[in-house]
Amino acid sequence: MHQLDKRGWVATGIDIANKAITAAQRAAEERGSDATFVAADAAAWEPERSYDLVTCNFGLPPQPDRRSAVYATMRRAVAPGGVVLLKVGDHTGSRAPAAFVGYESLNLEELKRGFEGFEVLKAKIVDSPAHAHAHGGPKQQRELWKALIFMARRPTA
Ligand SMILES: C[S@@+](CC[C@H](N)C(=O)[O-])C[C@H]1O[C@@H](n2cnc3c(N)ncnc32)[C@H](O)[C@@H]1O
Repeated sequence: MHQLDKRGWVATGIDIANKAITAAQRAAEERGSDATFVAADAAAWEPERSYDLVTCNFGLPPQPDRRSAVYATMRRAVAPGGVVLLKVGDHTGSRAPAAFVGYESLNLEELKRGFEGFEVLKAKIVDSPAHAHAHGGPKQQRELWKALIFMARRPTA
């Protein structure tokens, strides 16, 4: 949730795993947050309201068709003039270990297509040492881990 709730945002978190939702609810209660959490599949979720910011942090599925469905949910959920922000692992080329089958086609071009008609504010590849750390591997390999950052604004009309 990036502590957006603490900065005055009305925040809703979704995750397909009940366990993740329970942990997030507990953490929110501990810090006095009024964020709400929903156990739902982002590929099928129908938001009841729209949001100024819709963000997805390392949460995209490996199947390209399910990723397209998540982009569609994000497009539905973001208000006109609002922003979508994604940070996802870059598993293209040499950074595509077998454990990440399905993610090879996930690149900045796919994200641009997924949000066609939106104004692209940021589309870049960055080093991702924390992401690498989570997945382990030899140190030399970890230094190669990258992430895609994509930010785009939904047009107002
Ligand atoms: C690698 S974790 C990232 C968690 C968190 N966003 C972070 O950055 O620490 C991926 C999360 O995405 C969730 N997830 C995967 N597919 C999903 C889907 N289709 N809908 C909602 N959540 C999903 C998983 O249950 C998991 O909690």
